[in-house]
Parts: sequence; structure tokens; C-alpha cells
Amino acid sequence: MKITIIGAGYVGLVQAVCLADFGFNVTCIEKDPEKLRELKFGRIPFYEPGLEDLFRKNLKSDRLKFTDNYLENIPYSDVIFICVGTPPKKNGESNLNFVDQVSKEISKRIKGYTVIVSKSTVPVGTSKRIENILRKKNSQKTYDVVSNPEFLREGSALEDFRRPDKIIIGCRSEKAEKMLKRIYKPLNRPYVVTNNETAEIIKYANNSFLATKITFINEIADLCENIDAEVETVAKAIGLDGRIGPKFLHPGPGYGGSCFPKDVKSLIYQGNKNLTDLKIIKAVDKANELRIQSLFKKIKKITKNKFSNIQIGLLGITFKPNTDDVRESPAVKLAKSLSKTKAKIKIFDPKGMENAKKELPKSIKFCENENEVIKNSSLLVILTEWNQFKNLDLLNVKKLMKKPIMLDLRNIYSKEITKLGFKYYSIGNN
Ligand code: UGA
Repeated sequence: MKITIIGAGYVGLVQAVCLADFGFNVTCIEKDPEKLRELKFGRIPFYEPGLEDLFRKNLKSDRLKFTDNYLENIPYSDVIFICVGTPPKKNGESNLNFVDQVSKEISKRIKGYTVIVSKSTVPVGTSKRIENILRKKNSQKTYDVVSNPEFLREGSALEDFRRPDKIIIGCRSEKAEKMLKRIYKPLNRPYVVTNNETAEIIKYANNSFLATKITFINEIADLCENIDAEVETVAKAIGLDGRIGPKFLHPGPGYGGSCFPKDVKSLIYQGNKNLTDLKIIKAVDKANELRIQSLFKKIKKITKNKFSNIQIGLLGITFKPNTDDVRESPAVKLAKSLSKTKAKIKIFDPKGMENAKKELPKSIKFCENENEVIKNSSLLVILTEWNQFKNLDLLNVKKLMKKPIMLDLRNIYSKEITKLGFKYYSIGNN
């Protein structure tokens, strides 16, 4: 079976590498010349644990190829995965220009029966839109369109690819369903087979539910701070209820990344467009946006609103650990707010500094390591739960800081550290 993947972004590249590793012949079409050149040289354009090694292994085996040429590949493909970006517009709507362009390219070139799979997160109705484009050039229906959303998390993409909780196949053709099941056979995981529209909405419902869970525990955390309760214990207790489950109940600075904020907004847009007022999701979106302001207020309270002549050290800038992605990162948003005060801001992150430099003002100092950030700080804020921040030598931290005050926005440490002389603030504990 010959597989073509269009778009070597996060979703496309992981899919391409993992399918090549299953033994399929995979060609990845990437139009960005810079990115294509890097890929051909054996370099991937982002950080994802384990991916580069697997990518190089499969590149060597010749099962994985990269090109910008549609003509040489589309006519000979059995299955084509569309993995292009669907960036958000200001009103929350997804921009489908890339999906449209790619569909036009495919429509001009398919020969024989081809399954076209939409893998990007796309609003409901996109499969039909792709079909309409294909129909214009192909009066005889020699193709099927499938919606097959992905559920990979950045930082654990390989693990998630190899052991997904479910595989969603949205289509109206048994032949296409069989092809997809052949591709995913090595995974041996449960399938949900449904129509295209249901498959499309599953992805948004999935991400928005998780965003809701996080926002819910963040609100409970705020309440806990005002009533002398401990949010971690609340999360543990409610998580033990099988109907709730323990995952995605870690309070923090709010959800970020390239998916949850965008997908929540897109779901709201799709609700409005289809005359459905999604009240819960609207509240989640608003609460998450307001979170940065409330964290900034918390910092103002800790510093007694005095920022002149103090240094604030920030540990972590990515939206989560094990990635270099800073898109919609709460850490970036907070760093931007802090950079407007008179405080001197220092940052260290193991992987995200290059991307963060493009987003943050020049006044912020990017450091080589944790100690450089900690030295002379009067407040240390932990923003991302990288493993290397979990075992800081606290006595040394105290010695290096001007004032040993820690604001732990990921609840890595506990009140125990006050015994070492720290003032300690976290999320949802007082
Ligand atoms: C998310 C979904 O988890 C994936 O299933 C999905 O495929 C992906 O979006 C996508 O649509 O492409 P990702 O954005 O990589 O994956 O990251 P998550 O691990 O879900 O974290 C998202 C945000 O929620 C992060 O800012 C994280 O810090 C925050 N979070 C997560 C919490 O604040 N608390 C939690 O308990 C869990």
C-alpha cells in the first residue's frame, strides 16, 4: 500500500514516521522549501522526544521520503492523509485555505481508487467540502473521504501514536474503512466507526471536555485558596470516583498550546453557526483567558505591588514540558505582563528559549540555566513542570536568591519547603 502524507507539521510528520516504521512506503509532501531541505538532511523542525531517531532510522531504510511534488505521488497513492494546518481566524473560525488548496491538487491528479483521509483538526462539514472539490474534477467516484482525527499530545506523541485510547474512522464506505483498518492493524486498539460529521465533532468534544476539566479544577483551586482547603487532595478524591477519573485534574496557570485554545474557540464558532449556544464552553474559554490576569494579581499581592529594583526569575516558558512549543503558552503571557512592570525578568527553559525569544520583549533576559535565573531573584516562579525543575537543590536556591520566595504554578513542591525558610505560594493551597 502506498501512503502519501500532505504536510510535514506535527501531525503529519509523526504519522509519516510511525507508518513508515510499520513497514509502509510513505511519501510526505511538504511545500515549505526551508522545512523540506531540513527534513531531507535528516533534521526535524521541532522537538519531540524520540522522534528524530525514529525519523532518521526510517529515512535510511528508504521507506520514508520527502518531496514537494504532487504529480509524482498523488496518482500512485492508495491512501492520502491531509495533515495541513487549519489556523484560527480572529472570530474562532478555522481557516481552511490549506485544506482547499490541497484538495484541489488531489482532485486534479488521483487515478484509480484512492482514500483521502482528513487528519487535521477540521470543523464539521470539512469532509463534505473536500468531497465537493474532488467531485468537480472527478465525475466518476473513484475515491472516498474519511475523517480520522488524531489525539496525540506534544511531548508524548510516539507513545500516544502507538497506544491510542481509540481510533476514530468517520466514513460512509466499507472499502475505505477496511483500508484504514489495514493501516492501523499493528496498533490493535479499539475502533469507533461512524459517519464523517460525527468523527469531526468527536475531536472538538474530546479536546473541549479536557479543557473544561482543567478549567474546572483551576476554579476549585481558586476557591480552595480562600477557604483553607487543599486542591490536590480534592483532585485526588474526586479523581478516585470512576465516573470522573484522575487525569487532567492538575491545577495550573491555565491550558495553552496550539490545540485546546484554538479548538475551544472553534467549537464555540461552530455552535453559533449552527444556532446552538454552547454556554459551558464559552465560560471555559473566558475563564481560561482571565486566568493570566488573576495570576498577575497574585504576583502583585506577593510583591506588595513593588516591582522597582527587584528581579523575578521564571522557570519554564513552554506550554507544557517535553516540547519546544510556546504557542498560547500561559508562561509567555505571564512573562509579557511582568515585562511591563519595573522588575527585571529572567527566564530559563530547557527547550523553549529560541521560540520564546521571538515572542517576548528584548528587556527579558534569557539565561543558560536555572541557577542564573535563581541568583539574586526576589521571587522565583515555576511555570512549566519540566523534570529538571522538580528536584532543585533548595538549600542552594535559598542561598542564591535575594529573598527566598517561590510561586509554584505547577504545584511541584509543597508547604514543606517553608521549613527551609522559603515563603511558598502555590495553586489552590493556602
Ligand atoms: C492536546 C490533547 O491532549 C491531544 O489529545 C490532542 O491530540 C492535541 O491537543 C491536539 O488537538 O492536537 P497537547 O495540546 O499536546 O494535546 O497537550 P495536553 O497535554 O493536552 O495539554 C494542554 C494544556 O493543558 C497544557 O497547557 C497543559 O499544561 C494543560 N494541562 C493539562 C493542565 O493545566 N492540567 C492538566 O491536568 C492537564
